[in-house]
Amino acid sequence: MRFHIVTFGCQMNVHDSDWLSRALLARGWTPASEQEADLVVLNTCSVREKPEQKVHSALGRLGTAFRNRPRSFAAVGGCVAQQLGTELLRKYPFVRLVFGSDGIAEAPNALERLAQEPGTQLALLDFLKKYPEREAAWDGPASSYQDGPGPAQCFVNIMQGCDNFCAYCIVPYTRGRQKSRHPDAVLAECRRQLERGVREITLLGQNVNSYGQDPGGAGMNFAELLHKVAALPGLERLRFTTSHPKDIAPEVVRAFGELSNLCPHLHLPLQSGSDAVLRRMGRKYDTERYLGIVESLRQARPDIALGTDLIVGFPGETEEDFLATLEIMREVRFESSFSFKYSDRPGVAAVNMTPKVTPEVASDRLARLQELQNVITSEALESRVGTRCDVLLDGPSKVQSGDGMHWRGRDPAGRVVNVPLSTDWNEKSLAGKMLPVRVVEAKKHSLRGEYLGEPW
Ligand code: 5AD
Ligand code: SF4
Repeated sequence: MRFHIVTFGCQMNVHDSDWLSRALLARGWTPASEQEADLVVLNTCSVREKPEQKVHSALGRLGTAFRNRPRSFAAVGGCVAQQLGTELLRKYPFVRLVFGSDGIAEAPNALERLAQEPGTQLALLDFLKKYPEREAAWDGPASSYQDGPGPAQCFVNIMQGCDNFCAYCIVPYTRGRQKSRHPDAVLAECRRQLERGVREITLLGQNVNSYGQDPGGAGMNFAELLHKVAALPGLERLRFTTSHPKDIAPEVVRAFGELSNLCPHLHLPLQSGSDAVLRRMGRKYDTERYLGIVESLRQARPDIALGTDLIVGFPGETEEDFLATLEIMREVRFESSFSFKYSDRPGVAAVNMTPKVTPEVASDRLARLQELQNVITSEALESRVGTRCDVLLDGPSKVQSGDGMHWRGRDPAGRVVNVPLSTDWNEKSLAGKMLPVRVVEAKKHSLRGEYLGEPW
């Protein structure tokens, strides 16, 4: 059987697709293009309206393509699958499996069964009480670095779901209640990955800071887990995502100063710089608290690079509220941000909040916010010029020019660094190697580095 996986959405989905792909490879399935595949999996996202629309257009496209390939079928996983469930099976008969975030552990077996039983349709949509452990499918090669982690990096899930019910967010409905993964399972997976040669681990969860606040963590909290993972032999870089500011413990903040392999980077979604909007969003912190966390992070690790998520046009957001968001961006100087126009999602509390901000006003605010972010990002990148750092190489850069080959990787803070290397290095792959460089130029969203010494 030949398969193709299309991934929408967040890093959790990227990681899920990567695992599913390796689980199918381990069963003897082979990867193929969408045009040639017997099975096309859409791993979907419904956090905003746009990614959800993309799923429907992809299904339309598959419906047409499959008319000439009656043996081919599709599976839909992730948040849209959880949200629409068996409606997808009825509406699109060529979809023969729907699975949610708890159901994915069983998806490889279900797909094997479907390959043998033409005409059958299956749904794996139940939410489970415990974190569903998955088989360790390490045998197959990982996905290409362009859409997944590089060869020396991996993601390790530590929890699933979310209990926060922020007013705009569909995630608690599509990913279910928070379920921490047993620390022994987390540590065993990290060890296995390190034995395979992984040098950088990113601990993943919808809200990693509340790890262990449910029975699944066996009494361990996130700071303790972080210390345990950091101490594993061979781990050079440790990251985690995503964090909720209300749950970040002082011990986790301090860890940035205590653990030398914990990377100086934190993605800490702020969402808005207006206390009134934060209150209506149900975020349970105000700007003073957020700024206090930023200050203590910088005390613990002065070179920490901060990133964030911001929403503009939340119901009731005034121009003044929006200006407060711009103000806090200038104050914190986030190196990067993901910013979105608020979009109504079915069933969330904000659907009933008024007045709605018009699409024109929201677009205008988003453009102004992104313009400011570009200036701050440029200044932050510019300030790196002349410094030296170690770049963990992912693979060749997307854009190549001149002699030799350009390689792409990341510095400890997660900034993308492209490094031109002479042809001497082309013979053996450098992906997964650490390269000492001097930063010589800042581009719009990346840095250019100059070779300083032997890769290791
Ligand atoms: N509208 C716009 N943005 C949203 N996000 C979550 N829900 C919505 C929504 N309904 C954004 C938040 C979150 C990120 C993953 O997506 O900023 O942090
Ligand atoms: Fe959504 Fe809030 Fe949970 Fe993040 S913390 S996933 S924004 S409900």
